[in-house]
Amino acid sequence: MAFALNRRTILTAAAGAALLGPLASRAAKRRKEHIEYFEVTRSEVFVPGLDPAHDGLVIAQLSDIHIGRHTPDGRVIAAVRELNDARPDLVALTGDYVTTRRDPFERVPLLLKNIRAPAVAVLGNHDHWSDPTRIRKDLEALGFAVLLNRNTSLDLRGVPFPVVGVDDGHTNHDDVHQAFAGVKKRGFRLVLTHSPPTANQLPEDEGLLCLSGHTHGGHFVVPGVTEGLFRTAGQPYVRGLYDVRGNQLYVNRGLGFGRGGPVVRVNSEPELALLTLRPA
Ligand SMILES: [Fe+2]
Repeated sequence: MAFALNRRTILTAAAGAALLGPLASRAAKRRKEHIEYFEVTRSEVFVPGLDPAHDGLVIAQLSDIHIGRHTPDGRVIAAVRELNDARPDLVALTGDYVTTRRDPFERVPLLLKNIRAPAVAVLGNHDHWSDPTRIRKDLEALGFAVLLNRNTSLDLRGVPFPVVGVDDGHTNHDDVHQAFAGVKKRGFRLVLTHSPPTANQLPEDEGLLCLSGHTHGGHFVVPGVTEGLFRTAGQPYVRGLYDVRGNQLYVNRGLGFGRGGPVVRVNSEPELALLTLRPA
């Protein structure tokens, strides 16, 4: 069918473009905001036994990144950029880098390689259910210390800073005893573990700070309902800071979405956590 352009057609098209243009650009802006959206939370955590050199030390924590179809790469890129801008002393990654075997594993190192501060990492249940060997190797190739039931000591501000990594308890890979083997007995120690209830097994009254994730902060939170459901499912620690048997536990809301769950978060925004250590 022939279509003749006349002045009226052109004017109508121009009016349509003038009307739809701003709407389209607003929609694009909203989409970009959604893709890159996460909340930067800032907390001061008061811990005993902190070396004076580590007063004010900043730990940036990312968790549950779930790289793949349901987590926009743009959000991970934006979070790493924001993390670097915060100039943390240490980066803690607490597992679930992917969701299933079908996820794009090659994008894990690509998206995390720009992290500039020293990084320590543990694996999550989804990493164990997919390809833990590959994820571990890829993170280690970036220079990150992957602590699966072992500990290390980093030189931060010229003073040793011990970090203990307990492997994922949700998949029964946790061995707290082995993780703490050889670590110094006194002074502050940071602990990473993916699944929050593992904090119940940590040595009691040691003033430890344990960072974890896994819950997505409840992900789809109905006030007064979600926490009860998580408790029933064996997850009493859902988000934020808890006192657990004389230690502290911080549960990060995570950055991404896993396949199979809701791809909408409600009352539980994606999170980049910045934790500043202060002496108790
Ligand atoms: Fe998890």
